[in-house]
Amino acid sequence: MQNFWQTLEKPIFILAPMEDVTDTVLRQVIARYGKPTVFFTEFTNVEGLFSKGEKHVIHRLQYTEIELPLVAQIWGSQPENFSKAARKLIDMGFSGVDLNMGCPAQGPVSRGVCSGLINDRPRAKEIIEATKEGAAGIIPVSVKTRLGFRAIDFEWIQFVLEQKPATLTVHLRTVSEMSKMPAHWDKLKTVVEMRDALSSETLIIGNGDIKSLNEARQKVAEAGADGAMVGRGIFENPFLFSDTSIGDKTPEEKMHLLLDHMHLWQETWGTTKYFPALRKFFKVYANGFPGAQDLRMQLMETQTPEETEQIVIAFLHTLSSSYAQH
Ligand SMILES: Cc1cc2nc3c(=O)[nH]c(=O)nc-3n(C[C@H](O)[C@H](O)[C@H](O)COP(=O)(O)O)c2cc1C
Repeated sequence: MQNFWQTLEKPIFILAPMEDVTDTVLRQVIARYGKPTVFFTEFTNVEGLFSKGEKHVIHRLQYTEIELPLVAQIWGSQPENFSKAARKLIDMGFSGVDLNMGCPAQGPVSRGVCSGLINDRPRAKEIIEATKEGAAGIIPVSVKTRLGFRAIDFEWIQFVLEQKPATLTVHLRTVSEMSKMPAHWDKLKTVVEMRDALSSETLIIGNGDIKSLNEARQKVAEAGADGAMVGRGIFENPFLFSDTSIGDKTPEEKMHLLLDHMHLWQETWGTTKYFPALRKFFKVYANGFPGAQDLRMQLMETQTPEETEQIVIAFLHTLSSSYAQH
């Protein structure tokens, strides 16, 4: 078995899967700024992968070499589709496959999938077994879940650990807590102790609210866990995995980073993806300098890359002319 997880240096730092955020473009950008130990794809529906709608989901699995090791995260309802998906992911060159058992979105939950599986353990078990069968020991199968559905539920965690996933990532909140309550990092130690009591090789990764690598190191050490996964923290600092900060960049540098990011997006997606979805990243760069708020407001209205570029270039001109006056 080629379990790449067991070869990694610890603590392991992972960029969290985030739908409409962590596509190949963002992963390449983050890899340039400071690469995490492991990347995850956005969650990809296994029913979609084997239907006429495949063309609407396959972009989620697009990647380049620089993003490796890369784990494909999947979700869905039919165990046989998980099996088929695992075989396809091997052929596509993924390092591993992860099962989403934590997404709280109402649609999937009402169909009893994603975090709905916390309430349907027989189906959760079938899905893990089917994925392992498809993965055939060639790529490792991991699970990402939450601490429980309505309340913290260590029986659920015990149940998942007994299925012996290669890695268990715990978003340290219940489904009911969505992302509103602070993550329960104090509970991660218990998860580690449960893993140890089973003498299992499953790696334990904590997730929730991490803002810096130092904070991650401290929380992982306190729990005796193997690593941490970071999601929204990269909106405040996309350089987070390099232990540096976007706050140290000059306004000019930030504007050039924005343009590079946008150009990569254009080269990768052209007109196949909706451009305004990229605007959420403009806020990351147009931040922390005089005039940033006005600039952000203009950038949030742009409909095309060309329009965005014009605004950024005009702003760069104002910067150089204001330096010339000093
Ligand atoms: C916009 C967005 C999209 C997300 N999409 C996914 C997803 O596709 N799969 C998944 O397991 N979790 C998803 N999550 C949850 C994150 O992976 C992570 O568990 C959560 O944001 C908590 O970590 P953080 O506080 O570091 O962001 C998403 C979160 C956000 C904010």
